[in-house]
Amino acid sequence: MKIEIRDLRFTYPTGLEALQGVSLVVEPGEQVAIVGQNGAGKTTLVRHFNGLLQAAAGSVLIGEWDPKKYSVAKLASRVGYVFQNPDEQLFSKDVGTEVKFGPRNLGYAKEKIDELVQRALSLTELSDKTETNPYDLSPTWRKMVALASVIAMDTPIVIFDEPTTGQDALNVARIAHVIAELRREGKTVITITHDIDFCAENFERVIAMSKGRILLDGPAREILGQEHILAQTYVDPPQLTRLGKKLGLKETVRNQVEFLEIYKNHRNK
Ligand SMILES: Nc1ncnc2c1ncn2[C@@H]1O[C@H](COP(=O)(O)OP(=O)(O)O)[C@@H](O)[C@H]1O
Ligand SMILES: [Mg+2]
Repeated sequence: MKIEIRDLRFTYPTGLEALQGVSLVVEPGEQVAIVGQNGAGKTTLVRHFNGLLQAAAGSVLIGEWDPKKYSVAKLASRVGYVFQNPDEQLFSKDVGTEVKFGPRNLGYAKEKIDELVQRALSLTELSDKTETNPYDLSPTWRKMVALASVIAMDTPIVIFDEPTTGQDALNVARIAHVIAELRREGKTVITITHDIDFCAENFERVIAMSKGRILLDGPAREILGQEHILAQTYVDPPQLTRLGKKLGLKETVRNQVEFLEIYKNHRNK
């Protein structure tokens, strides 16, 4: 499902102009990372996709839908949004009920609900924790419950807001696995992240935001090489990208696999 944003502007009641004309098209099935300093407007932007915020000017289209004309409940059938802080999202007394809530609310048949819930629980490795109260779990696992409850809704578009913040390496790998699985299923995935290595390892397209605008938007390889522009939004390219540049590699490398490949050729020249 296509997302089309044209010259979107949004001002908070405090008078702060958090989005100052953002235009963006995300094609169905694309996987996009949004990076940028704190306060750049990343969360404000994605909250327009599911109707949590409404455009002050400009337009938003989710498929053919203008979110202004649909309720948040209705938009939930198209856009799943995993909050940065799971505590803002979770409210059920046990994991099973929490994960079932979304698909049940969308009115799916019982068999479909069961299937979606099983799949979401297994992808997030929560199948043995369905009886547990989310608040008895570590913050790491609460994050996985938040992921599961959104994945279970089977929306064509899934948004993760800072999924790896505060997560250990094992859980970051689990989250990467979930995103890879959604990619395989042809879902559109938009991920806000501070973790530039995670971005480089998992996303083909990167959008860098600064002060309510899009600074850069393009293939990860191109964007992550633009050290000086990224610096404007306090984003450093990945360690390996910087090392590659220092070594004089001609191509921008994003991750270990690319680094080793290109470095080998470079050395053999
Ligand atoms: N509820 C709010 N009320 C007023 N200002 C807000 C609110 N939420 C965010 N802001 C401000 O809007 C700007 C963009 O915030 P946000 O979209 O959360 O940025 P990011 O997700 O990139 O860190 C920041 O200056 C932030 O302080
Ligand atoms: Mg944010």
